[in-house]
Amino acid sequence: MDRRRTFAALALALAAGAAAAPAPVLRELRWITPTLPRAEVVGVLTTAPGECLTPPADAATRAQVAVGRAMFSAPLLLGGQAARAGLSCAACHRGGRGNPHFVFPGVSGAPGTADVTSSLFSSRRGDGVANPRPIPDLAGDPPRVSRAPGDPALRQFIRGLIVEEFDGLEPPPRILDGLVAYVRALGPACNGSVARDLASDAESVDAAAAAAGSAVAEGDIASAHLLLAAARSALGRIDERFAGNADSRRRLARRDAGLRQLQALAASDARAAQAGVARWRGDFQGDLKSLRAGEPASLYAPAVLGRHLTPTAVR
Ligand code: HEC
Repeated sequence: MDRRRTFAALALALAAGAAAAPAPVLRELRWITPTLPRAEVVGVLTTAPGECLTPPADAATRAQVAVGRAMFSAPLLLGGQAARAGLSCAACHRGGRGNPHFVFPGVSGAPGTADVTSSLFSSRRGDGVANPRPIPDLAGDPPRVSRAPGDPALRQFIRGLIVEEFDGLEPPPRILDGLVAYVRALGPACNGSVARDLASDAESVDAAAAAAGSAVAEGDIASAHLLLAAARSALGRIDERFAGNADSRRRLARRDAGLRQLQALAASDARAAQAGVARWRGDFQGDLKSLRAGEPASLYAPAVLGRHLTPTAVR
């Protein structure tokens, strides 16, 4: 089957890469065009396209969008090699947009393309043809999968992406509905780019933890577990930027251990987990003070990052 070929190729490419080169300083470097000039790589890693999110008026849909937004950046949602490599929806759709610099062995052709199309073109299934297509801007390009409220097409498409294309586990309804609501809330009202800094990554961590707290409060333990995993991967994105800062990394490791414990606690004692999430969020805000002090010397700072992107560190 086509998908198997794709991921077999990906596995081989990853194995070959692992033997030849040390891990890049930031995971995301694995899927940025190797030929991109260093200054542009720094730009890609320290800015993001402005997110084109129109928050829905009603609170219930806003909560769904928060769930989807958190899961959109969580590799755990996807299965198999994609998840292991750290790919999430956001790796391809940066801030819900496209990604002109995306290159990944076995998945892309030209930069900015990827082969994830079999759920959209099911006739292609089983024909063994690699067929990378441009990664669409989910906010700006005219949708090809209907987003009309009440039309199940988008939900089916996203489920197919996760379960069939990426070999992920069946997502709980809250997670799938969240992703659908998030994609529906993307629109053309946006422009410019925003900084990717400690504040923006910390906001992602906190939003995922908050959404996990709501899930556990409503007894949805499976979703809470996934959202805590999303918070952990967002925390990991901060950790990468503090490479070389032992004190900050110790703090972050402690917070990560806290999230892991909450994942276990959610399964056994939901009420304690709910209180635990609230406490964890407070502790994390406390940590941010000292993390902020280290930010100018961290890989969030364009000049520091540029110095680290020596040719061997990039690949
Ligand atoms: C490896 C890159 C990659 C990843 C990861 C990825 N996508 Fe996509 N996505 C694409 C490409 C390429 C297309 C275009 C497919 C086509 O043209 O047939 C697409 C299409 C879509 C569409 C349809 C857009 C339209 O025109 O209507 C949606 C919605 C979407 N993706 C959402 C997601 C979500 C949600 C995730 C995570 C679960 C995700 N994508 C993960 C590359 C990716």
